[in-house]
Amino acid sequence: MHSLNSVEKGQTEVLTENDTGDERKMLAELGYSQKAIKYYIEKPYMGSLQDADQVSEMLGTCGDTLKIFLKVDQGKIKDVRYQVLGCPGAISAAMASVDLVKGKHLEYARNIDDGDVFTQLEDVPAKKHHCIQLAVKALHKAIDEYKNGNGRSENIKCQSICSTPGECCKN
Ligand code: FES
Repeated sequence: MHSLNSVEKGQTEVLTENDTGDERKMLAELGYSQKAIKYYIEKPYMGSLQDADQVSEMLGTCGDTLKIFLKVDQGKIKDVRYQVLGCPGAISAAMASVDLVKGKHLEYARNIDDGDVFTQLEDVPAKKHHCIQLAVKALHKAIDEYKNGNGRSENIKCQSICSTPGECCKN
């Protein structure tokens, strides 16, 4: 296997830095705040939670999809992750919403609205406000489904052979 020598490694680092720099510049020109850009570039809460208590999905009218994983402990949101197949607006809004609700009671999190997430982001282009709404709707949906006991039955991978497909995953 070909491994990178020090010159190639240096070039790769420069390329990566330039790529991120170009992306940052482009997003800033479009109207994203530095804080929103940081959320988008760093994606601190992107991914999944193996032991999630709730997994829910939200499909936007634009076709973008958000999957949200909630870990709940004694009525409080212990952890959250999002998987986002979507635009920088949706990604940054999803990441920002986690900072607003992590460690908070479910009721508090259910009352978070688009304005709260916008304030947390500081600024995004006006035409991206619906992306914030999508992230907030996904969060609300996950909390509602958690409260209604929908859990993660339809989203987890079945570990054994069920007599009726999906039955064992409901346990
Ligand atoms: Fe679909 Fe941003 S364009 S969420």
